[in-house]
Amino acid sequence: MPPTPSNFALRWVALYDDIGEGYAKTRQPDPRIERVLWDALGEGSCVNVGAGAGSYEPRSTRLAIERSPLMASQRRADAAPVVIASAEALPLADNSFETALAVLTIHHWPERARTGLRELCRVTRGRVVLLTWDPEAVPFWLTRDYFPEIVEIDLPIFPTISELGAELGGSVTSEPLPIPHDCVDGFLGAFWRRPAVYLDPAIRNGISSFCKLPAETVERGIERLREDLASGAWETRNADLLNVDALDVGYRVVRVDYR
Ligand SMILES: C[S@@+](CC[C@H](N)C(=O)[O-])C[C@H]1O[C@@H](n2cnc3c(N)ncnc32)[C@H](O)[C@@H]1O
Repeated sequence: MPPTPSNFALRWVALYDDIGEGYAKTRQPDPRIERVLWDALGEGSCVNVGAGAGSYEPRSTRLAIERSPLMASQRRADAAPVVIASAEALPLADNSFETALAVLTIHHWPERARTGLRELCRVTRGRVVLLTWDPEAVPFWLTRDYFPEIVEIDLPIFPTISELGAELGGSVTSEPLPIPHDCVDGFLGAFWRRPAVYLDPAIRNGISSFCKLPAETVERGIERLREDLASGAWETRNADLLNVDALDVGYRVVRVDYR
């Protein structure tokens, strides 16, 4: 089947029911990223959509929406209540929250996120904040040199920033989110200065991009990375990164204001 936005998203719709086990171990919130997201959100009742185990939820969160019961089961006991539902059909009244947050989730929503984005807009009075990846950003060394297949999968499912603006309406700003070299959260771009971390299967298991690839494709890329680390080829090719503290690897904080 050719890679269209909708068939890619539908194919992975139950992904987190399969890979969610242990997610909370490798995917803890990074406090610096948390600060950026909380500053962007501001005050007021918040709904966190695609909430997963609850990373980055501000104290103002009144409700979390999560599609996977397995992910929801990993929320802290004192976290906001969670409703098992899909972003495309939020069981919420119009304008029921001041703010909405969606972190590293919209690319999992069907139809290139369109319906879910319109739902976010419908239920939010004041401001929506997204953390997403910009498909127009230049791929970093991991996907450029070892896993170009990840970019092939991601390009059709991540909306561009202008597509986001068109679906969400309101006044849209998008800021690059440079990822600290010692990022606590274990998402795809987190280990850009710690390449050996990608060799750990437990880390890869918490990254959906790896879980979508055939096992032999992952093994092939990992073996090449292992060899390049052992020979020093990785270090030679990426010498310019070794003294950098934070790097733009394509993540964006998108803020939409409705007032
Ligand atoms: C990468 S995780 C991010 C979780 C959390 N926001 C975080 O930052 O740790 C993506 C989450 O989106 C959820 N998700 C995927 N498709 C969804 C949908 N259509 N509606 C609601 N949640 C969805 C997944 O089950 C998963 O928990």
